Amino acid sequence: MDIRLVAASPAEIETECLVVIAADHGEKQQNTPKLSPSDPTLEKSAAELIASGEITGKASETVLLHRPAGLKAKRLLVAGAGKAKSFGPPEVRRAAGTAVRFLRAKGIKSCVFAMPELANGDDEAVRCIVEAAFVADFDPDTYRSERKDLSMKEITLAAPAGADQGGLQKALDQARIVGESQNFTRELVNEPGNRLTPTILANRAQEMCRSVGLGCEILGPDKIKELKMGAFWSVSQGSAEEPRLIVMRYEPSDAAAGPVIGLVGKGVTFDSGGISIKPADGMEKMKYDMAGGAAMIGAMRAIALLKPKVKVIGIVGATENMPGSKAQKPGDVQIAMSGKSIEIINTDAEGRLVLADALHYARTLGCTHLIDAATLTGACVVALGMVNAGVFANDEDIYGHFAQAQQRAGEKFWRLPLDAEYQDMIRSGIADIVNSGGRWGGAITAAMFLKEFVEDTPWIHLDIAGVAWMEENKGWITKGPSGIAVRSLVEFVKSYAS
Ligand code: BES
Ligand code: MN
Ligand code: ZN
Repeated sequence: MDIRLVAASPAEIETECLVVIAADHGEKQQNTPKLSPSDPTLEKSAAELIASGEITGKASETVLLHRPAGLKAKRLLVAGAGKAKSFGPPEVRRAAGTAVRFLRAKGIKSCVFAMPELANGDDEAVRCIVEAAFVADFDPDTYRSERKDLSMKEITLAAPAGADQGGLQKALDQARIVGESQNFTRELVNEPGNRLTPTILANRAQEMCRSVGLGCEILGPDKIKELKMGAFWSVSQGSAEEPRLIVMRYEPSDAAAGPVIGLVGKGVTFDSGGISIKPADGMEKMKYDMAGGAAMIGAMRAIALLKPKVKVIGIVGATENMPGSKAQKPGDVQIAMSGKSIEIINTDAEGRLVLADALHYARTLGCTHLIDAATLTGACVVALGMVNAGVFANDEDIYGHFAQAQQRAGEKFWRLPLDAEYQDMIRSGIADIVNSGGRWGGAITAAMFLKEFVEDTPWIHLDIAGVAWMEENKGWITKGPSGIAVRSLVEFVKSYAS
């Protein structure tokens, strides 16, 4: 998709469709839609539809007008953003994305956006529209034999006269990198288990690293055993597919010696549950159990291209969790790389085993700050549903960085606790800890397990089980892989740049 800026009045641009966002300034039931930007020519051409009540400005509304009077555009699309009181970046993202999805479905290949007026300025508007446009243009139906290409060919942003064009162009270029990286993550998550084994995932990561100039090292079974990664290895031992530990390095020469950020992802390319096998119903979804790892690979891509002045190491533990004849069994005891012993209660609690060694390894590589993402627990889905992902932190300063990052990124995470009392729930009668804390507070006990392996390193844990895959089309996000966390991770890393 081509995306560009022009400095011109939206009314003067010839296009298949001009898109303008409308917010509702009315009180309660009373709708008073107003366009953003407020532009007399646009307002005049939409006046009749507004007067008739067809345009209300409510969220996700799309009203299409053909041959709008006074405009050079062939069509005018008014995209609702909801109540004006809450009009901000998330609303612009949703309205812009919904507009793109609406036009795609009609086979319209190009459009122009009139820049909405946001309190944070035009840079923010550009960033929201461009990221939303790429996210909305994603197609998950890769394997349909009669596939229609609905993708957008060209999107133009009409920049207000007098705006800093250079600055806006920079915002556009950066947003494009982020949007494309999120879609790269979604492509990986979308792949079925037979087409994305741990080996193939590692190859894809390596290819990406080569193309953007990142260092990349792939560790196979021998190296994993040599490093004594007993927790990670135990998950892979039940599968005929070899595990891979993917290590991606971004080490800019101009970065301060200062922080080294470790991005650690769960890359379980298929989770059958192992010997504690999952029920058949819904098991096919477990191909997306590598979404945390894929988020790290996408984030590393964006970081390599955005070039913040901070060192970043990306680590993904890629494996299948299968019940082969060599699979680990409930009751087995495994020794993690850190030396901690783990009693396996449930082989389906495998993500934390993968992350335990990956997090510890990140520390041995010199990471001073850690963030992990994983489709870790069904309990997190029970707690937060499919709206918010869970976030945990062992340090207030790092949490502050993440809280700001998620807000800038327009992604939803809700913090869950890590009180010391929960530790009792992962005590073992035979080893240091168990890998399953039982039914209650399952997202928290999983996080407590990880905490054992980060020790005192400032750390954020993201449990994205409920939001990594959308069950249905949601306005601007197509059903299928969401690419959650990529944008927040990128903002998080940028917040540490010198
Ligand atoms: N991959 C699953 C968690 C999951 C559930 C991801 C739903 C996406 C959607 C994870 O490996 C798992 O099986 N967790 C168990 C842990 C339990 C056995 C302690 C769970 O949540 O049931
Ligand atoms: Mn599992
Ligand atoms: Zn899993």
